[in-house]
Amino acid sequence: MHKSESSIVGWAESSKPNSGLRGLSPTHGLSTPPLALYVHFPWCVRKCPYCDFNSHTLHGELPQERYIEALERDIEAQAMQVRGRPLVSIFLGGGTPSLFEPAAIGRVLAAARREFATAEPFEVTLEANPGTIERGRFAEYAAAGVTRVSLGAQSFDAQALHALGRIHSPRDTLRAAEELHAAGLVNFNLDLMYALPGQTVAGAVNDVAQALALEPAHLSHYQLTIEPGTLFAAAPPQLPMDDIAAAMLTECRDNLGTAGFEQYEVSAYARAGRRCRHNLNYWNFGDYLGAGAGAHGKITQASQGLIVRTAHLREPRRYLASDPCALEQKPVAAADLPFEFMLNALRLPEGFKMETFEARTGLGWQDICAAMQGLEARGLVECTGARYRATSKGLQFLNDVLLAFLPAPPLCTG
Ligand SMILES: C[S@@+](CC[C@H](N)C(=O)[O-])C[C@H]1O[C@@H](n2cnc3c(N)ncnc32)[C@H](O)[C@@H]1O
Ligand code: SF4
Repeated sequence: MHKSESSIVGWAESSKPNSGLRGLSPTHGLSTPPLALYVHFPWCVRKCPYCDFNSHTLHGELPQERYIEALERDIEAQAMQVRGRPLVSIFLGGGTPSLFEPAAIGRVLAAARREFATAEPFEVTLEANPGTIERGRFAEYAAAGVTRVSLGAQSFDAQALHALGRIHSPRDTLRAAEELHAAGLVNFNLDLMYALPGQTVAGAVNDVAQALALEPAHLSHYQLTIEPGTLFAAAPPQLPMDDIAAAMLTECRDNLGTAGFEQYEVSAYARAGRRCRHNLNYWNFGDYLGAGAGAHGKITQASQGLIVRTAHLREPRRYLASDPCALEQKPVAAADLPFEFMLNALRLPEGFKMETFEARTGLGWQDICAAMQGLEARGLVECTGARYRATSKGLQFLNDVLLAFLPAPPLCTG
């Protein structure tokens, strides 16, 4: 799962849950959106102290064969529920999918191709840790069907990488990028984090410059956040002050713009034609199946006026021991849909069309107009042409904006 899918940025003062979302209309007008597949690989060489993803230090041998067999069964079982719908993309995320051999990844992709028709051009992204890449490996992943790679560079400063507990060096990232170019996988992303322990604005700017020198097609630029339950939460490192972090973001964003990278989501920058289709599907409130330990899915059952969230057991051993058909399924309440839609769509600087909101939630303008008008009056959202979007102030205080779409608390009748 992509980091920015669930993370929320910026809280403004005087935030309070909205009370204008009572009595939503039923979800009659739902249409079937595009469908993607997310496959989770839950192991890493070592758990990073800042990471709250469902990733686990690998102790002993990787249970590659058992896990791939479980994924094959999982994909097969879930395909039954969405028969006839083609896939638009696959994202092999983690954890560290690049711990798995190319032949193993090929088996997962073959299982997906057996069960689904695929839309063209078809995007298949593999997340890779630069510390796990052997010579020739990317060429083999490409031969197995991978079309795009997301490389966890994080920083080009050896000290910063050490402070982040990374298993790789700046040199490993350089080598991995060379391998990507040699394999013809030029559509690759680099993940960078900024506001790292001890980092200066010049340091953050230098990281972006070094990343650009590797000629990626896409760059994800995340502010390091201290997540509950991580080692960093238990023993927080000294991080740059907020105004320094804001200056890092402004300078890095400007430099990326000058280098021809368009910001198309809060943390995502791409060259023309290189936006990540898979993540765009999340942000446009499309559907996705989630296969593997802890993977989540979202499926629209238009004829029944239902949107269902699915989830697998998080712990890899328990997932392996479970029946792949025993997937937790929960319908999303109509009252939760405005928030869930906006959590995704308002991350896009270009925002969304009202018809997309209506088709993908089954709700109508009347269900959000009070909230939207309130936000417009506060200069946090705007309507340009046929699109609604967060203003630059709204993007800065996105949490505050999203509060306006939370379901209203029950009325007090006492
Ligand atoms: C699930 S990780 C997968 C990448 C791969 N496992 C790796 O780390 O090389 C996706 C990305 O999320 C970002 N990330 C993870 N934890 C973060 C945090 N606490 N704050 C900001 N970004 C984070 C990192 O940039 C990471 O590369
Ligand atoms: S390698 Fe990636 S997924 Fe694994 S612990 Fe580190 S950041 Fe998390």
